[in-house]
Amino acid sequence: CGIVGFTGSIAAQPVLIEGLRRLEYRGYDSAGVAILQPEGALEVVCRKGKVSELEHTLSHFNFKGTCGIGHTRWATHGRPSEANAHPHVSCDGDIAVVHNGIIENFAELREELKAAGHTFRSDTDTEVIAHLLEEAFKAGCPDLTAALSMAAGRLVGAYGIAVVCDREPGTIAVTRKDSPIVVGVGAQGSYVASDIIAMIDATRDVVVLSDGQVARLRPDGVDFFDAAGNPVNPPITHIDWDMDTAEKGGYPDFMLKEIHEQPRVIRDTLAGRLDGGSISIDELDMSSEELHLVDRVYIIACGTSYHAGLIAKNLIEAWARIPCEVEVASEFRYRDPIITPTTLVVAVSQSGETADTLAAIRDARVKGAKVFGITNVVGSPVARESDGVIYTKANKEIAVASTKSFLGQVVSLTLLALLLGQSHGTLTTRQIKLLFSELADTAEQVERILADDSAIQEAARACADATSALFIGRGMGSAISYEGALKLKEISYLHAEAYPAGEMKHGPIALIDEGFPVIAIATRGPVYDKVVSNLQESRARGAMVVAVATEGDEEIKRHADHVIYIPKVRDAFSPITASVPLQMFARCIALERGCDVDQPRNLAKSVTVE
Ligand code: G6P
Repeated sequence: CGIVGFTGSIAAQPVLIEGLRRLEYRGYDSAGVAILQPEGALEVVCRKGKVSELEHTLSHFNFKGTCGIGHTRWATHGRPSEANAHPHVSCDGDIAVVHNGIIENFAELREELKAAGHTFRSDTDTEVIAHLLEEAFKAGCPDLTAALSMAAGRLVGAYGIAVVCDREPGTIAVTRKDSPIVVGVGAQGSYVASDIIAMIDATRDVVVLSDGQVARLRPDGVDFFDAAGNPVNPPITHIDWDMDTAEKGGYPDFMLKEIHEQPRVIRDTLAGRLDGGSISIDELDMSSEELHLVDRVYIIACGTSYHAGLIAKNLIEAWARIPCEVEVASEFRYRDPIITPTTLVVAVSQSGETADTLAAIRDARVKGAKVFGITNVVGSPVARESDGVIYTKANKEIAVASTKSFLGQVVSLTLLALLLGQSHGTLTTRQIKLLFSELADTAEQVERILADDSAIQEAARACADATSALFIGRGMGSAISYEGALKLKEISYLHAEAYPAGEMKHGPIALIDEGFPVIAIATRGPVYDKVVSNLQESRARGAMVVAVATEGDEEIKRHADHVIYIPKVRDAFSPITASVPLQMFARCIALERGCDVDQPRNLAKSVTVE
């Protein structure tokens, strides 16, 4: 979900719409705004669907008010609908609230408020906040900021909140706990948002609100208070991203732009990591002696990040000879995994705010593990709550389906595997130097893959009308195939499943009939021949085989209908090169099928609910 707010000297409506558009990638099943009109009325308009729907409706009103808040929602409590869209209003319609996060005690608050005579209009947890604010005013709170402090005192859970009230025209009050809120002042007024991207055109000097802090936005400035209502002076952060980060840079969609950024991500993630002959990751804040003691690694993550973990397991076990398990965070946290003080937990999260991953980090730390975070977002909860952190240098990723962040994660985890090999004495300096230099070479190899997508396009067109597809591989290829299948499902809605190729005969082969697409990771490596056998089995049953293969491999043409060649790399680095054509393959199919590749239905970029 995303929050925006503006109070200033110009009309709020276009500012809010532009902000919402920038935040839409975080969730988009409904959107709404509340605008305080010059004559004092509080106008609230919500629409199911994308921000463009809301924009269309608002164009009929063209509100002149200069103070308002807006929200783009991804449903948590209550189905996507106009009634459940934010802003939510109090009984009298004089207070409007937008909220990100989850109010855990909303059911009991709702009962309490109903008993006190409040009527609820939606199924959301958020609506209780509007009613709590009403109660706070009844209890004598002098202004909106004080009322928000009092209401927040009743909430259990995570929240970023912005509120307006017709009694205080020109004021927006905001607060937060475990959900980001950023405040900034520009030439035309004051801004609030759940992400800097929503206000970057107006100001680059922002305050990242701390948990419990409350801010009062006025047209000409902002006052900050602690939870007790005492004035505070939080530090100002200067943002030095260029606008390009938030724009498509000439590409037709963010996904393609981000796919093309991957060589840069590889280079940036590796920059400065080889010091003499050794891997250096100072941010991990762990001595080589401490690292040497690590005797078990757990990688915990969700979605695409989990697949980066599957790849890393192979590397950590091969190079450092440490047992490594990979688990989705939502499973890990509800089990009783074996964790000792010498267990290293590696939490991988692009956004750094995935609720299940965060909860797993907390559990692991309570159980005594050391936790390393791998994330793309500086200062994110995962970064803050881990003992050490490696930042993937992907920069902001806008397309919901992850591409460049994934590659950044794979490269970062590869560095970690090298570091563990170094600390455990299982890799020599010579080996580390060689591996690092080959790893660095993948940037140029990915550039070559990106330079010619004709084979990918052709294979994609052949598969676009399928109803289902199978991705297979062995070893590294099996880990890659999981991500290939996920990417395709996410953006094209074509059912895709990944299987270790050797498992085909134990079930999935029954699916294969004439023209069924089987996408195989068949790069030259230790299990190449075995994969080829599986291709033969598939083809014998009518499958249409697409093989991702190593340049120069002429033999593969005999076993595949379409071949996508990629440069030859060491098997350990094949995930970096082989994932890229699969991302492009998924995108081409999605476009063939008329799908929105940047904003697939039902998905959100950052999932802060459990
Ligand atoms: C969502 C996104 C996925 C992502 C997953 C984990 O489901 O749509 O693309 O892989 O969350 O996100 P994280 O930010 O923790 O990597």
